[in-house]
Amino acid sequence: MNHKKNILITGGAGFIGSHVVRLFVNKYPDYKILNLDKLTYAGNLLNLKDVEQKSNYEFLRGDIVDSELITNLFADRKFDAVIHLAAESHVDRSIANPMEFIMTNVVGTVNLLNAARNTWKDHSDNKEGSNRNLFYHVSTDEVYGSLGKSGYFTEKTPYDPHSPYSASKASSDHMVRAYYDTYGLPIVISNCSNNYGSNHFPEKLIPLAINNIKNNKPVPVYGKGENVRDWLYVEDHANAIDVLFHKAAPGSTYNIGGNNEWRNIDLILLLCSIMDRKLNRKEGTSAKLITYVKDRAGHDLRYAIDSSKLQDDFGWKPSLQFEEGLEKTVDWYLSNEEWLEQVTSGDYLDYYSQQYTHR
Ligand code: NAD
Ligand code: TYD
Repeated sequence: MNHKKNILITGGAGFIGSHVVRLFVNKYPDYKILNLDKLTYAGNLLNLKDVEQKSNYEFLRGDIVDSELITNLFADRKFDAVIHLAAESHVDRSIANPMEFIMTNVVGTVNLLNAARNTWKDHSDNKEGSNRNLFYHVSTDEVYGSLGKSGYFTEKTPYDPHSPYSASKASSDHMVRAYYDTYGLPIVISNCSNNYGSNHFPEKLIPLAINNIKNNKPVPVYGKGENVRDWLYVEDHANAIDVLFHKAAPGSTYNIGGNNEWRNIDLILLLCSIMDRKLNRKEGTSAKLITYVKDRAGHDLRYAIDSSKLQDDFGWKPSLQFEEGLEKTVDWYLSNEEWLEQVTSGDYLDYYSQQYTHR
């Protein structure tokens, strides 16, 4: 029997978080889901329009860095479990402003760990945990650093982060593990490869390229476009989180990936050809927009995930082939002009400042 029904999801208005919230709210009508999100530029309640009226869902605007808010929230709500996704997530922004990443990704995570520990202290002397409580921390494969031309990240690969983003996520992973090792807090960590799909903010490669191609603007490719990423459809990531949330043993770590490596330039060329077809442009038109620009500082060459532990333990597999997922993603962006218009103009931020008071 599952006891983890009263769940705090952090960062649920963001890209991956909104898919996790939607999955849990629809699949588990007897769970109570509270979505706590600061609504930074990356958080958008339009992502959750279809679930906002559901009786098992509630939204609260708040900052995980605010320790008083977090302490009071846990005392009031007595959550059984946390799925922690709130983060600053963009590598280029972390290069420009690392401190924001330390605050949210490290300090914010430790605030949540402290509140969970205090709330669940009845169980915290028990290393095995009970199946009553869980702190599920969503992390990235970028903590493992960069691969050369061969090899894969496994759960045993030593951490070797390079960017301020990945270093902040690595720090948070270490703190989560330290709370298990030191206090017996029941935790699970998953490290996932690059996600793509609907509701992805158009600063990341795939949605940025779709938006620029649509608007006949240059598509910036960093360096020579030879860096490799391993892409996973966001709904497959949400499904993996669902499986691990319910089945993974306390203290465990799992890698999640699509076994789907692409050089950036090959991915962009594929996207250009899909866009030509969708927009009735002559084949080759969109590829003319590709513009090679200065490389990202400290740019990791290659990420590739070995997710066999997740597949062997729980039979999880990605459901979509990449071309199919990319096509669905392009269709979503082309038919959700309002969303794209709002996030690129920043109009949704004005809307929030009228609706919710900043703490
Ligand atoms: P995102 O940037 O789209 O969303 C982050 C969300 O967190 C936003 O809704 C934002 O408003 C919220 N947030 C930011 N700071 C906050 C704060 N201080 N308090 C409360 N809420 C705050 O990010 P995403 O791509 O959906 O990533 C979600 C999680 O998954 C992150 O932890 C990220 O590290 C991890 N991850 C992302 C990827 C990927 O490819 N995007 C891959 C693996 C892991
Ligand atoms: P990104 O989507 O920022 O994800 P991450 O850096 O977390 O992997 O970038 C994916 C890859 O695409 C990465 O190698 C950097 C590259 N890139 C570009 O070439 N051009 C761009 O405009 C962006 C945003 C990224």
